[in-house]
Amino acid sequence: MLMRSEISPFDQINPPPRLLMGPGPINADPRVLRAMSAQLIGQFDPAFTDYMNETMALYRGVFETRNRWTFLVDGTARSGIECMLVSMLEPGDRVLIPIFGRFGHLLVEIAERCGADVHTIERPWGEVFTADEIEAAVKRVQPKVLACVQGDTSTTMCQPLEDIGAICRAHDVLLYVDATASIIGNPLPVDAWKIDAVSAGLQKCLGGPSGTAPVTLNERVEALVHRRRHIEAGIRPDGYHGAQGMRIGSNYFDLGMLMDYWSEKRLNHHTEATTMLYGARECARIVLQEGLAACAERHRIAGEAMLHGIQAMGLKVFGDIAYKMTNVVGVYIPEGVDGEAVRKSMLLDFGIEIGTSFGPLHGKIWRIGTMGYNARRDAVLTTLAALEAVLKRAGARLDMGKAVDAALDLYEAETAARSGASV
Ligand SMILES: Cc1ncc(COP(=O)(O)O)c(C=O)c1O
Repeated sequence: MLMRSEISPFDQINPPPRLLMGPGPINADPRVLRAMSAQLIGQFDPAFTDYMNETMALYRGVFETRNRWTFLVDGTARSGIECMLVSMLEPGDRVLIPIFGRFGHLLVEIAERCGADVHTIERPWGEVFTADEIEAAVKRVQPKVLACVQGDTSTTMCQPLEDIGAICRAHDVLLYVDATASIIGNPLPVDAWKIDAVSAGLQKCLGGPSGTAPVTLNERVEALVHRRRHIEAGIRPDGYHGAQGMRIGSNYFDLGMLMDYWSEKRLNHHTEATTMLYGARECARIVLQEGLAACAERHRIAGEAMLHGIQAMGLKVFGDIAYKMTNVVGVYIPEGVDGEAVRKSMLLDFGIEIGTSFGPLHGKIWRIGTMGYNARRDAVLTTLAALEAVLKRAGARLDMGKAVDAALDLYEAETAARSGASV
């Protein structure tokens, strides 16, 4: 039998104060944490189904879409990706995936597990594709679906997408986008750009925790899912006939069943993650209250201030910065400096987390984010000041003492430009 001391050997969770300035997750907005501390109610309580409907409406605003089917998939951002791909792709379907970083490889991995016939085009890390390159590949492969990441946090690059939807329509291809890392910090007007399906996550520019994936899909995707429609035994209505198409290969991520659950029918599927819905709803309220344009501008300015500070120190920035996401920057670890020791000192001496990197960039760059609740002037300046102090102590030969000034100069120039514009 377990002793009382063995059953409860740990202290109550009390995380150390941290400023999360990596590629995500970031510190949640306190408003989101407050919303998430609200009491649970039943998933079919009319108050809760109202919250579900409100969440759908709010995310239509976030995605800039009129899509009826805009809701949450329970699970981290990866669950949104998996839900879209397993529901859109049948075994043998051709899919084209442009790879320009780790998350393109993730789309390939998931599409392969769906049994799809996967075709790829690839760019070195730090670059993106031109629309012409993507169109040429679409013409050659003739896929059913083009699946593309918008902002790939592994490389910090943001793939321009404004022309890709029209290319896909012209060739009768469905366009799915993973916007986990980019949404809100970088424009993504889903309807205007003719994107058929998108999935995202809360833990980057939306300023929440990971754990639910906002998604949106249009009637083109709905029609495809409808052909595969299925209802579980035990909750089938009288006279039910399944659709002719192949049943979707996942129960949890069956888009059709999720749509039935989020529709007025409220056909039972999973038990909605109440607390995550409270959080997601508050994330959307925050960005829509600020305004999408203002929010994107805040991310642009914070990202530029961080970039200017990094460059003023004499540090080199990774990749083609013309295509950098606003909300994260890759910074080369200077020669002779132990990158992990710097990250450790940032964390333990200053309470600031900056990111490491994956694959070919591992040990070569740090990734520093300015997103969501942390796309703030004080967070940028604190991070730059701490990084400079840590690098100085690590013996890096850099232009010390310039980073904070460069960032402040940028903020002042932006303020002056704005007040000039409003005169
Ligand atoms: C572009 C992109 N896609 C997908 C993911 C996976 O998200 P999650 O870890 O929430 O499943 C991430 C996480 O960083 C990401 O940056």
